[in-house]
Amino acid sequence: METTVKRIILGITGGIAAYKAVELARLLVKRGLDVQGVMTAAAGHFVGAATFQAITGQPVYSDLWDARTANGMAHIDLSRAADLVLVAPASADFLAKLAQGRADDLLSTLCLARDCPLLVAPAMNRQMWENPATRRNVKQLADDCIVLLGPTSGAQACGETGYGRMLEPEAIIEAIDAFFQPKTLKGLKLLITAGPSYEAIDAVRGITNRSSGKMGYAVARAALEAGAQVTLISGPTGLTPPAAAQLVNVTSAQQMLAAVEARTDEADIFIAVAAVADYYVLNPSENKIKKDAHILTLELAPNPDILANVTRMDKPPFCVGFAAESENMEEYAELKRKRKHLPLIVANDANAAIGSDEVELILLDDDGRHVLERANKLTQARRLIGHIAKLYNARYQ
Ligand code: C5P
Repeated sequence: METTVKRIILGITGGIAAYKAVELARLLVKRGLDVQGVMTAAAGHFVGAATFQAITGQPVYSDLWDARTANGMAHIDLSRAADLVLVAPASADFLAKLAQGRADDLLSTLCLARDCPLLVAPAMNRQMWENPATRRNVKQLADDCIVLLGPTSGAQACGETGYGRMLEPEAIIEAIDAFFQPKTLKGLKLLITAGPSYEAIDAVRGITNRSSGKMGYAVARAALEAGAQVTLISGPTGLTPPAAAQLVNVTSAQQMLAAVEARTDEADIFIAVAAVADYYVLNPSENKIKKDAHILTLELAPNPDILANVTRMDKPPFCVGFAAESENMEEYAELKRKRKHLPLIVANDANAAIGSDEVELILLDDDGRHVLERANKLTQARRLIGHIAKLYNARYQ
């Protein structure tokens, strides 16, 4: 886990999703965390303490009167030793208890006694989730700075479908990672382009490139984690956008330009990650072009340079470009940085970066080069966002 969290209390309450808490415990341990299981009595109807003990290597606590801890006060001793309390699954009853500040078993008492963040992953029947009483409790929890992770929507153990499914264990871990990211862009508005563009040749064919959109989507996610408001202008990709981003789907470079230009006025920072086609087809056919024996010639005209158009504005946002190069990477990237008047450009190896999950990035700015050692794209995006925040704050704050 990329946080300073070392010791975590995993609270398990009574719900069928408790079986997934076993996998969650395993993933947390795998990440090097010290995991202390605390179960409610109802959780014991779904999973056994021995299961969590075997996975975490620590005895599980359930009883408020358990005197095994150092001072014989389990609720204080356990919560003081923790950097984070995570309750997953959190039943409707447990949310109600938290909302009221009740302390009638070990888990609710240590939640009340804690001096660290509390994150809860609700899991319940959709009708219970939608019930006005639960709505009220959820609002109260938000007011009390208790963070809700999920729930998500889908098929439920009871056979119904709707909101109330607990987030999957991997998603819970991602959400914890996100929660602990520094809020370096709080209050700022970011505009981000991502993915390839698609230039139509006819009704069914077009010119595009191998950009997957993964880097742009990762940058959008990292910006959201850093507290920014994000508008993601995306060419065609098969990716799921971060739920909190405002998504604008476009196809061609001209559409992407129009979408960007309509939003630059209100943007503080513009990050152009999209791999925009350099040319478009001059007269695309409305119908599918029929095959015949003749040579087919396509006339291509240059596309507008979206990023350069933005930097030419009177009061441009803080602009960041990407340069995917297959040779002389840093030299070409620096030339682009100068030509497009960018405070920062991100150079990467076109062959290695496109479509892959891991990249090395080199950031070029007025202070020179900064190497971001090879890592997955989300990690790189977080590092990049950190660097952008530093430059932005130095310039405007
Ligand atoms: O294609 P090129 O290497 O010039 O791309 C460098 C940067 O410019 C990238 O950030 C890319 O998103 C942006 N760009 C753009 N519009 C184009 C071409 C590139 O915004 N038509």
